[in-house]
This record gives sequence, C-alpha cells and structure tokens, in this order.
Amino acid sequence: MKILIATDKPFAKVAVDGIRKEIEAAGFDLALLEKYTEKQQLLDAVGDANAIIIRSDIIDAEVIAAAKNLKIVVRAGAGYDNVDLEAATAAGVCVMNTPGQNANAVAELVFGLLVYAVRNFYNGTSGTELKGKKLGIHAYGNVGRNVARIAKGFGMELFAYDAFCSDELIAADEVTPVSSVKELYQISDIVSLHIPATPETKQSINKELLSLLPKGAVLINTARKEVIHEAEILEFMQERTDFKYMTDILPGNHAEMQEKLTGRYFSTPKKMGAQTAEANINAGIAAAQQIVDFLKNGNQRFRVNL
Ligand code: 3PG
Repeated sequence: MKILIATDKPFAKVAVDGIRKEIEAAGFDLALLEKYTEKQQLLDAVGDANAIIIRSDIIDAEVIAAAKNLKIVVRAGAGYDNVDLEAATAAGVCVMNTPGQNANAVAELVFGLLVYAVRNFYNGTSGTELKGKKLGIHAYGNVGRNVARIAKGFGMELFAYDAFCSDELIAADEVTPVSSVKELYQISDIVSLHIPATPETKQSINKELLSLLPKGAVLINTARKEVIHEAEILEFMQERTDFKYMTDILPGNHAEMQEKLTGRYFSTPKKMGAQTAEANINAGIAAAQQIVDFLKNGNQRFRVNL
C-alpha cells in the first residue's frame, strides 16, 4: 500500500517523521510531494497512491480520476471544502478530516492578529485593550471553543452564535449564546470568524451584516476567504474608517485592500493559522492513524462524504 503526503504547504519535518513512523509500522510505504507548483505534479504523484494525506490541497474530480488505486483521502485539518466530495463518493473513495487537531494553533493566531489590530499595527500610537471588550465568536466548533478559552485569560466578555451547536453547550463554557448572526454583530466589539465555506456561508459576511458592528470594531478571519464578500468589505471599510479587518487568508483583492486601507487591514501572505509544529504533528499523525485503521480495519470514523 502506498500512502502519499501531498502538501503544497509542507508539514514541519518532525511531523513528517511521525507520519512515516506510523505508516511504516503498519507495513505501508510513504511517498512525499511537497511545495509542488504545477497541478501535473500532483496528478503524477497520485497515480499509484492508495491513500493521500493533504492540507488545503485541491482534490478535484481530475485528481480523483488520476488516482486509479485511491481508497481514502484524509484532510489533515478541519475544513474539507478543497475536496470534491461528490467525485470521491462516485469513485468509491472515503474522505475524512481530523477535527480539532489543529484548533489550538488557529485560535492562538486569532489573538496574534487581534493584539496587532488593537495596538494599531504597533505604530506607536495609543491603542486599546482586550480586557472588558465583547468578543463575538461566529461558529462555536473546535476553534471557536479554543478562542473562548484563551479570551477568558484576556478578561473579555464572550458571546457566540452557532446554528448547529446548542445554547446549553455554549453556556457550559461560560459563553453567552445569542440567537442570530445579526445579534452577534450588533453587540460585538470584535468578531472572530469560524464558519466553514459552504454554499450557505459563501459571501455571507457582507456590507449589510458588517454595518451592524459598533464603532471601532475589528473582524478577524481565520476561517475561509470565500465567506467574505470581498467587494463589499472594501466598500464598507472605505466608509467606516473606524473598522479594522485582519485575515489569515489572502483576499482576492489584497493589493487594492492594502493600498486603500493602510493601517486598518492586514493579511498573512499564506494561511498560517495551523502552521505550528504541534498542529502539524497532531493533524498529520491523526491522519496517518486514521488511514491505517481504515485500510486495516475498515474504521470510517471521521468520514465526511456519504
Ligand atoms: C483547516 O481547515 O484545518 C485550516 O484552515 C488549516 O489549513 P492548512 O492545513 O492548509 O493550514
């Protein structure tokens, strides 16, 4: 059995070593394709792979068709919007993710971006503190929960909205559940986005919603670029000069945002929320173990396609 790690954005070496150990202990072979620049390299590499470990790498119908022996794809991470689930299902390929394994890393970056924002990009002027501010957690999954835990240390007041998580679960973490997205944006000084990119959420963070935010608000996006209405956030920010936007996912209109919103907009050059040795080890080894358990025992826990 050949297990391929295909990562445009490589794992830390220590994580690759850990994955190799798991795969070889199971009697399988490991192949590595990192930092590839052309899709053809991926198409060539998957040709004889029985299993693939990926990150945000695009696994579309063409890749699945090229992977004639493929049985399973594991997205070492949370979001699987980069995998064509229908094509995988049609080809009899199991798709899994590794929920929670990189959540702390992403949550820590939220505060890296947030402190940078409220201290005015370290330009020397007086900023504001996080203590006592209202933080709205938009979707209360694994990352949202970690954000809540860290925010308590800053002394923030916590609110969350999640269409799929019960109020009881949110309240159990001493976070106030709110009943609508609108309400969350009306009350929050800072909103941290943790919604997945789905047909329902795409471009849902639009001007109408952002307009509800109080003066001086900050939006932190460590989720997906697709959930933002990029033209409208730019328009909104040109009108609302008090508002700041910090993102870990480079917008399509980055150059324009940077030019027009100096000092109020920041994007990391390449998504790095989950880019820690710890997250790489946790998610990478979980992916390897899930593949071994699937190939040897048929365990389909964490399967995300039908
Ligand atoms: C995820 O969905 O797990 C995060 O967005 C991390 O993505 P990455 O593995 O590409 O860094």
